[in-house]
Amino acid sequence: MNLLKHIRSLFEPVLAELAPDPAKVPDFVGMVKPAANAENGDYQANFAMPLAKILGGRKPQEVAKEIVAKLPPNDILEEPTVAGPGFINLRVKTAFLAKAVQQIAIDAKLGVEAVAKPKTFVIDYSGPNVAKPLHVGHLRSTIIGDALTRILRFLGHTVITDNHLGDWGTQFGILLFGYKHHRDATAFEADPVRELARLYVHVRGLFKKKDDEEDEAPIDDPVKQECQEETAKLHAGDPENVALWKLFMPACLEMLRPIYDRLDVKIDHAFGESFYNPMLPGVVDEMLAKRIASVSKGAVVIPNAKGVIPWTDEEMKKEEPPAIIRKRDGAFTYTTTDLATIKYRAETWNPTTMLYVVDARQALHFKTLFAQARRWGYESVEFQHIPFGSILGEDKKPFQTRRGGTLELSALLDEAVTKGSEKYEQSYAERKASGRKVPDLTPEEKADIFEVVGIGAVKYADLSGSRTSDYVFSYDKMLATDGNTATYMQYAYARYRSIFREGEVDETRFQISPPAVIITEAAERALAMQLLRFPEAVEAAAADYLPHLITGYLWDLAKAASVFYESCQVLKAPTPELKESRLLLVDLVGRLIRQALDLLGIRTVERM
Ligand code: ARG
Repeated sequence: MNLLKHIRSLFEPVLAELAPDPAKVPDFVGMVKPAANAENGDYQANFAMPLAKILGGRKPQEVAKEIVAKLPPNDILEEPTVAGPGFINLRVKTAFLAKAVQQIAIDAKLGVEAVAKPKTFVIDYSGPNVAKPLHVGHLRSTIIGDALTRILRFLGHTVITDNHLGDWGTQFGILLFGYKHHRDATAFEADPVRELARLYVHVRGLFKKKDDEEDEAPIDDPVKQECQEETAKLHAGDPENVALWKLFMPACLEMLRPIYDRLDVKIDHAFGESFYNPMLPGVVDEMLAKRIASVSKGAVVIPNAKGVIPWTDEEMKKEEPPAIIRKRDGAFTYTTTDLATIKYRAETWNPTTMLYVVDARQALHFKTLFAQARRWGYESVEFQHIPFGSILGEDKKPFQTRRGGTLELSALLDEAVTKGSEKYEQSYAERKASGRKVPDLTPEEKADIFEVVGIGAVKYADLSGSRTSDYVFSYDKMLATDGNTATYMQYAYARYRSIFREGEVDETRFQISPPAVIITEAAERALAMQLLRFPEAVEAAAADYLPHLITGYLWDLAKAASVFYESCQVLKAPTPELKESRLLLVDLVGRLIRQALDLLGIRTVERM
């Protein structure tokens, strides 16, 4: 049960009675929120002040008291109190808390209910450009897209995931040129992945202007020009280039596979850009026939929202850009492909919603794309760009490696795992030296821990900030054992799990017949409250596609659990009933940490 939603619903009839015209009042029910200060209660309702205004300048205090008096009888809340200028403080009955906690113990979803009306989502995420080294720009899309998929599925939605691979771009011109002129045949035979990677880097090294492979007319850069000609030939269906493309593709996809495996990310489909190539002329014809696009200066263009096609620099400054769907030379564009993709997805899966987890820098592309799709006839589909900020280095500039280029993703993950293992060994040695119990681990178990810690740290760091913000990539921060990090959560999890081994308690019975929950101490009560807030966090994260609301929840939960564990004896609790109750709380903390991390695509281990 979503407790917050439930409490809000108690206020609905009261508000409807006091302010009967919902059109005139803002979202008052939404103003019931978790209390800013736990001393005042668990939740608070702050709408008495604006409501008093609407009611013709009544005293907010009086309005607040009237609301409280009219609240329907219920067994959830204590009698609310009114404070200050009209804040309504809400405290959940401890007996209710105890009962509710006992109930989530038998629920596989720990209180989270399936949505009443499941939607069908298509989530477009990851979208690396194959045949190029995968870089950090695609890491965020992969991590966020995977977390959103897990969260939405957990709530009972149908989610179809599709990796819009860049498998048709200029990088293939580079490989084609490299393969034709610089390949080492034996090396290709032995290990095509490695040889293609080498060729890509080698040919890029022959460019005069190193930073861009795409510019329109490479003057004085013969290699780049030849590469672009190879791409054009591929797109035009040149048999030799198409055959080579087909030869390269499996190897290119092979480069990606270990990274997805390592990230524990499974994407249902990978209809890359190439898949849509045969459909592109049809899209352009349809756009022309429907008069959505027109021919302008030899190109086929969709005017901007105002119906204008700006061409000159002057006009471009004043106007939003139009979208070119076929260039003067006949080439199709990123937009043409994306339009074909929308049509295909709509016809194949008939989704309610299409989400695009793509870098914030593509905001304008998606804004115009969605507007065009609506004009094209896809009005009933809900389109949403889920943008995210950049990863920065410690110098606050876009993340780069010591080698200067954008770090290859696998190297980044390797380093996270190495750093994670160093930190782990250090903490292990410290724990041992200070006389604390440390588990005896096999080398395999240790290797698994390093991987879980390293990858988890990278993911959690990416997910725990607000999605649209940039963040600074720091191994030290993300692997800290004492803050809002995956590492902290993973240690906490293993520590709580160890209590059952220590006490030789079989905790699986709690899932079938949980003991009565006894709440005596303030820390117990605060923890019980947190245990019940998981549905609030999951539903809020899904509503705005914000995974950091789940890491925020985890952090609050972990803090409450740690205060509880410091102030309440568990295995040595004063009575057997209290021991059972507290063991159940510990079990639920563990299950919630594991479940919440799993929604973020992060693993846990039982012993560390
Ligand atoms: N390959 C693209 C890039 O790296 C991302 C693809 C995003 N998805 C889409 N449907 N446009 O920029």
